[in-house]
Amino acid sequence: MRIVIHEKNEPYKIKIKDIQGIEKLVEQSKIMEYELHICACGLSQNKPFCDGSHRITRDENPDNIYAYNENKERVNVGKFYSSKDKI
Ligand code: FES
Repeated sequence: MRIVIHEKNEPYKIKIKDIQGIEKLVEQSKIMEYELHICACGLSQNKPFCDGSHRITRDENPDNIYAYNENKERVNVGKFYSSKDKI
């Protein structure tokens, strides 16, 4: 088991023109601009792509840590302490 903390509640948005070498492919196709949405919240069921699941994180308190189960039910698991904090 591994615990990974994600702080973003929206996807990384990558314009296809930002990908090295894509200019030639774009020139050869009819695509003028395309944007990839990569999951940054950790909840997508279609990783690496965003599936909109991040919307359920928008009302989180940034001072708390939450866990989500496979049904996307949220549990507040406490506060985050850095190694500099005294617990
Ligand atoms: S950023 Fe994770 S589902 Fe959208």
